[in-house]
Amino acid sequence: MTVLVVGSVNLDLTVRAGRIPAPGETVLGQDAVTSPGGKGANQAVAAALAGAPVALTGAVGQDAFREDALRGLQAAGVNLSGLHTLAAPTGLALITVNDEGENAITVASGANAHLRPHHLPGTLHGVTHVLLQQELPPEVTLAAAQRAHAAGAHVLLNAAPTRATAPALLALVHHLIVNEHELAALQPGETEPAARALLTRGPQAVTVTLGGRGSLTVTAQETLPLAAHPIQVVDTTGAGDTFCGVLAARLAQGDPLPTALHAAGVAGALTCTRPGAQNAMPTWGQVQAQFTRP
Ligand code: RIB
Repeated sequence: MTVLVVGSVNLDLTVRAGRIPAPGETVLGQDAVTSPGGKGANQAVAAALAGAPVALTGAVGQDAFREDALRGLQAAGVNLSGLHTLAAPTGLALITVNDEGENAITVASGANAHLRPHHLPGTLHGVTHVLLQQELPPEVTLAAAQRAHAAGAHVLLNAAPTRATAPALLALVHHLIVNEHELAALQPGETEPAARALLTRGPQAVTVTLGGRGSLTVTAQETLPLAAHPIQVVDTTGAGDTFCGVLAARLAQGDPLPTALHAAGVAGALTCTRPGAQNAMPTWGQVQAQFTRP
């Protein structure tokens, strides 16, 4: 039943500005805000809020950012016995959010980039679902997928941010989650045919998140379109992470795929209604309050 997230931990430094600056341009923004982030940590927190026992393997530094970066994980009760303190700065994400709630993010990976396969847990006892992203060194993500596969755990990969995804990694993934940009990098073409083409490269399910248009999931047997949950967007940071974390958690809790996808869609949408990533995530009660079973 446990979800193991192997992923990044960052401190997010966010500035809201009228628009995201173009190269060479300076824009004036509001006061800077720090909050806990990192795709791995965000997904772990979302999964824990959705009711699953969650453990995180990751890395931070021994510096001033460390405590603030870990605050959300600790508050959500994520098991941090697999957290390593390395001789590098804690990851820092510089985020600009515009008036439409869209963001541009630059990540200084710091300690995340120093994680190695030997930092992974020796045993995956009790772990049924392993949730991965692409903010760690590729050899760590691949090794985590290999160990998960060998242990019989279900492997979910959120191929974010966009970077090369090794065919060997894709071959070990049960459920791939991508947005439209990430899908195009993996498999150019129209959304559904491209997602279906990816089914021939390893995954048994491919979910494409479509922002304000919901999501589309394909398996060999079915096509599952999901309408967007209607909301007023404030800040989209962490919405995709919430989707992935809740999806993994609800699958680990035994929900059927359509129900887990619906919960993930509602939770991801609710995250957009508040500023920040982990700080904006809904409780499971808040998700359920808006949840009509499909
Ligand atoms: O997906 C959002 C996250 O991406 C932010 O929290 C930031 O830390 C970057 O990792």
